[in-house]
Amino acid sequence: AHYTIVDKDTCIACGACGAAAPDLFDYDDEGLAEAIVDKNFGTSPIPERMKDDLLDAYEGCPSDSIKVSASPFHGTVEK
Ligand code: F3S
Repeated sequence: AHYTIVDKDTCIACGACGAAAPDLFDYDDEGLAEAIVDKNFGTSPIPERMKDDLLDAYEGCPSDSIKVSASPFHGTVEK
C-alpha cells in the first residue's frame, strides 16, 4: 500500500497536485494542499485505483512537498 501526506511547511500552493489527483488532494483556507483521504495525517492507505494519480502528483510537485511511503506517516512529516 501507499500512504501520502503533504508537507505544508514547504507547499507553495501551486495547485498542481489537485489538478493531477483531484480525488486525493484538496486545499485548506490558505491554499495549501492536504491529502483528502485522512485529513493529511498520512495514515490511510491510498486505494490502488488512485495510485497512478498519486505518483503523478508526487512527481509533479515543484517543491517536493508531497510525501509518499509504503508505511503510514502518523500525522507528521519527518524532517
Ligand atoms: Fe503544494 Fe506541491 Fe501541491 S506545492 S499545492 S503540494 S503540487
